[in-house]
Amino acid sequence: MKIKSFRNLDSVSRRDFLAFLGMSSAAAAAILANPKVASALVWSAGFQPLPPMGDDAVITAHGIDSEILIRYGDIINDAGEAFGFNNDFIAFFPLVRGRLVPGNSTEALFADEALLWVNHETPIGGLMHGNPGPALGGTPKTKAQVREEQLAVGGSIIRIVRDSKQNRWRFGGRHLLNRRISALTPIPFAGTGFKKVSIGGSDHATGTLGNCAGGVTPWGTVLTCEENYHEFYGDFDRNYDYRNPDWRKHVKVPAQNHDWHTHAVHHPFHYGWVVEIDPLTGKGHKLVAMGRAARECATVTTARDGRAVVYSGDDHRGGCIFKFISKRPGDLSEGDLYAADVERGRWVLLSWDKNSTLRKSFRDQMDVLLHARAAGLAAGATPMDRPEDVELHPLTGSIYISLTNNHDRGNHHGSLLKIEEVNSDPLAVDFRVTTFMAGGKETGFSSPDNLIFDRSGNLLFTTDVAKDKLHKGPYQGFGNNGLFVVPVSGPDAGKALRIASAPVESEFTGPCFSPDEKTLFLSVQHPGEATLFENGNPRYSSAWPDGVGGRKPCPALIALQNLPLVSARSQS
Ligand code: FEO
Ligand code: CA
Ligand code: CA
Ligand code: CA
Repeated sequence: MKIKSFRNLDSVSRRDFLAFLGMSSAAAAAILANPKVASALVWSAGFQPLPPMGDDAVITAHGIDSEILIRYGDIINDAGEAFGFNNDFIAFFPLVRGRLVPGNSTEALFADEALLWVNHETPIGGLMHGNPGPALGGTPKTKAQVREEQLAVGGSIIRIVRDSKQNRWRFGGRHLLNRRISALTPIPFAGTGFKKVSIGGSDHATGTLGNCAGGVTPWGTVLTCEENYHEFYGDFDRNYDYRNPDWRKHVKVPAQNHDWHTHAVHHPFHYGWVVEIDPLTGKGHKLVAMGRAARECATVTTARDGRAVVYSGDDHRGGCIFKFISKRPGDLSEGDLYAADVERGRWVLLSWDKNSTLRKSFRDQMDVLLHARAAGLAAGATPMDRPEDVELHPLTGSIYISLTNNHDRGNHHGSLLKIEEVNSDPLAVDFRVTTFMAGGKETGFSSPDNLIFDRSGNLLFTTDVAKDKLHKGPYQGFGNNGLFVVPVSGPDAGKALRIASAPVESEFTGPCFSPDEKTLFLSVQHPGEATLFENGNPRYSSAWPDGVGGRKPCPALIALQNLPLVSARSQS
């Protein structure tokens, strides 16, 4: 399947664009001449950050509004499909007269309509249908409960609209373009490898699940990553032979699981991939050549020869940082997979043909791809402290990676790692690595997770201390999880400032800017996740978003509007 999402771009006039920026022609022309500072926005110098907080609410720094766009269970189309649970990664696709346009185009600035792709990572049975399942003290789930959960993960495509007078975005209501991709949607595999070996006797997977973070390709498709896939239908031991037709006997289900395997059996090798989806049609495929791991994200850039380069974190204690270089521009179905040897500053090619160590321990290239983390470590890649999100600095191209934490190694607060490719070339084999910032009392944040840069190079990131660890032991004094900014200029340059504080037991995920960077879309994931059940009765630990006396806690997608970004005349 060939995916090409952007169609027939036409450009907005230069005069309209200058008017939009509200600048003199000369000043705006200077900015236009230098696309690297085209946003010309900086974090306001008078901005007052929040202290650590424990409130069961989305609290935002003064001057920033937050509002809910859509929440779990809201109906999105006339087929009756509903917005899924535990929304995570968000991608913004501007729509102009029914066509998608690139997010960094001038047309995008004028778009009053857009599609959002939103990941739905995991179900929480206790908060959905009231049965947390055996792993969390509940009863075995019924088939209907499992089906409800299968329909609630994957991704949503929703149309949003802008009130251009107030510059505020809202959910556009039921629409033909609104769709759900769930754990029940058939999805084929891209490339030839999987079809040849016919893993599990099928050339397609039933659905996608564990959809954590992701990325957007330069050709306008979304990449959604299947992270903790083993918790749904289990997994195999590292040495399991994928060619074995008698696979059902060999599936191992971990103690922490969603209890789906008792009602639905699917081949574990059908999950753990990066999935590419066209947001206009909802069609997509699983990208086998990128390898299988507990991938957090898939962040894409373009090399000088037009090929796509994709960076990913593998969120596991001792997981790898991966880089994938596509064989052809605009197509991720074939390419080379690398893992980072951070000690030596080298990308290690995971090629069974070219690496004798891999030939000793793996059956063939498919075996390498199915166990990409094990292959990376065998080939000399460095085990990392749970690498989560990856973002590229918009001006330097440097790669920033959140290493969230690793309790096995006494690393409670994590850090932000910076990788600089030699000559800033994404095709480079060698790189330089430094720690950009470490979490802890001194910096005021712990356990960084999702990252996003604005166009001026301010870094925004969310934090994710686990529900059972918040406010305890080493996490005392850090407050609830939050959203931080590290400004690049002004008196607070280089400090982590808290912009927003998340409700009880939730984390903010999926930060995503509108094209003018005045709105930040954000997921509020798993509020009330540690809700206890006594004799089947819940004692909800959060009342977000309705408040006490309202409905049970519920994940939702919010928009922070009126961000304190100001024109940077001095920088233009
Ligand atoms: Fe789904 Fe690693 O966060
Ligand atoms: Ca999460
Ligand atoms: Ca994460
Ligand atoms: Ca996390």
